[in-house]
Amino acid sequence: MAQQSDAIEALYGENRKFPPPPEFQARAVVSDDEIYRRAEADPEAFWAEQAETLDWFKPWDTVLEWEPPFAKWFTGGKLNASVNCVDRHVAAGRGDKVAYYFEGEPGDRRALTYAELLTEVCRCANALKELGVRRGDRVAIYMPMVLELPIAILACARIGAPHTVVFGGFSAEALRDRILDADARFVITADGGYRRGKPFALKAQADRALAETPAVRNVLVVRRTGEEVAMQGGRDLWWHEVVARQADECEPEQMDSEDMLYLLYTSGSTGKPKGILHTTAGYLLGTSFTHRHVFDLQDDDIYWCAADIGWVTGHSYIVYGPLANGATGVLYEGTPDYPGFDRWWEIIERYGVTILYCAPTAIRAHMKWGAEHAGKHDLSSLRLLGSVGEPINPEAWIWYHQTIGGGRCPIVDTWWQTETGSILISPLPGVTTTKPGSATFPLPGIGADVVDEAGNSVPLGRGGYLVLTRPWPSMLRGIYGDPERYKETYWSRYPGKYFVGDGCKRDDEGYYWLLGRVDDVMNISGHRISTTEIESSLVSDPRVAEAAVVGQPDPVTGEAIFCFVILRSGVTASPELGQELRQHVAKQIGAFARPKTVMFTPDLPKTRSGKIMRRLLRDVASGRTLGDTTTLADASVVEQIRAASTSAKSDE
Ligand code: WTA
Repeated sequence: MAQQSDAIEALYGENRKFPPPPEFQARAVVSDDEIYRRAEADPEAFWAEQAETLDWFKPWDTVLEWEPPFAKWFTGGKLNASVNCVDRHVAAGRGDKVAYYFEGEPGDRRALTYAELLTEVCRCANALKELGVRRGDRVAIYMPMVLELPIAILACARIGAPHTVVFGGFSAEALRDRILDADARFVITADGGYRRGKPFALKAQADRALAETPAVRNVLVVRRTGEEVAMQGGRDLWWHEVVARQADECEPEQMDSEDMLYLLYTSGSTGKPKGILHTTAGYLLGTSFTHRHVFDLQDDDIYWCAADIGWVTGHSYIVYGPLANGATGVLYEGTPDYPGFDRWWEIIERYGVTILYCAPTAIRAHMKWGAEHAGKHDLSSLRLLGSVGEPINPEAWIWYHQTIGGGRCPIVDTWWQTETGSILISPLPGVTTTKPGSATFPLPGIGADVVDEAGNSVPLGRGGYLVLTRPWPSMLRGIYGDPERYKETYWSRYPGKYFVGDGCKRDDEGYYWLLGRVDDVMNISGHRISTTEIESSLVSDPRVAEAAVVGQPDPVTGEAIFCFVILRSGVTASPELGQELRQHVAKQIGAFARPKTVMFTPDLPKTRSGKIMRRLLRDVASGRTLGDTTTLADASVVEQIRAASTSAKSDE
């Protein structure tokens, strides 16, 4: 815990407070704290009351069956997620409301209404049925941020086929591993997408994965870039040929509350990604409840979550939560800096965006590019700002508040995980007085605590490990195919409590300050990447004998990947080799996981039992100048590393 005390002290000086602005509070979805007391008095009754906002084919019999660590919510109930996200809004006469304003990176635009979305979802669902996709079959989706992505997701939900979306930035190898683990027999992809003005290929990547996934029967391919792709006869089909000719109605499957809705893979502290399993009713409830309450959703809002649907933030807050609430959203395909640094601000002005939800890493990038880019546009439509993915440093919070929010927009710093399914710790913007850098308090109905090594609650003002003390509707139901790993990872450390893996401190007023991961998981631009995965990738190069990877503080991405590499004897270290290894990791895992620095070293500090002393390596890495991409360990580093190895040995 010694590592964390710095972070605690750094944040401790932050005493600025921002109460909800009175004009905001006056029309807020929630404007007093009665909801917290009601939820706390009887959490199950509270969730049952909230679940009435969903559309059910058949109501549930039991709110919660809890046999730790396995929870079942709303058992006996039947519903369909796509009906909740689309049909019911059309049925209520809101078919002409825009579901998504799509903005392609090259500047192509399309407004898709709920009525049009319904037709597209039904056609895609019918196409999947024609291909033989049945209820319970897993469908892998590997796509750019185009409208066909949420359409494909909802089509899967409509026919009861769980989807597993693989972020388009992942490599062929990563896609292959996920297809195999999920045993997906169908894949939906695209020829490619656009990034920084250039088309990038997805189908070609998918083909490399598919060469090693013989069980895949069909691949549906969206034409986005028009670039040449290889289509394998009998297996590969064009979306525009198969989907367009389908009937535009499709009877939805009546799913059980606990039927699997999707799998989403995330990094754990061991190398193998975990297939996080979410089910239907509880997940829809968690995402729609939080989307309405945390983002204070009003009927006329234009909501923009600038994440990628390939991560959980996009699943919950671009697709399921907003659509279940009948919101109008923006879907943007590209990067924030193309063709200019003001692309985001131009989008906000064009659509009159009222709510913006993004990651601290993006905010810091905008800070670096300069306030003048935002200054060129009218951002007065904004009324609420959100942050997600990592702790937001007070400096970035204040910049976001002043420069983007004009000092008038509350900020909701939302803490959650792929595993939690929806936001659990966050302000309610019409109720909570915020402090820059704090996610404030657990939401109504959520039980959280901060505990010490022994599992005892620590007093206010102290730091420890964040735990969740009772089940919540959108919690993961397991790790696909591995109930033991589920128990071990989340429930074994403190019996009966969910172990989050984040350090946390509560200040004297009970505010929660998240302090980052305590396991071997790095947070790079808000994406979880395990050190083990990068290490395995490095040692898969025959020239590498051993590797140790740590996160290094980075002003823009939060953490950057820093690799210590020991080469096999006879191999000579060189900057070129360093570049090749960085490239090797990018190819195996994905470009977003490209290491920032590779340092060649003759030694690694280890305990006598052979455990690498990461704390020391982190110290070495944080002392390095940023911007170095590859480097040879200099004498002082080697000394430090050697000294630590010897001292570790003599300590034992
Ligand atoms: C971190 C992303 C501090 C945390 C939704 C968590 C945060 C991990 C915050 C989950 C926040 C997310 N403040 N840290 N507001 N939000 N984190 O699964 O370490 O990609 O455990 O889900 O991100 O990452 P994941």
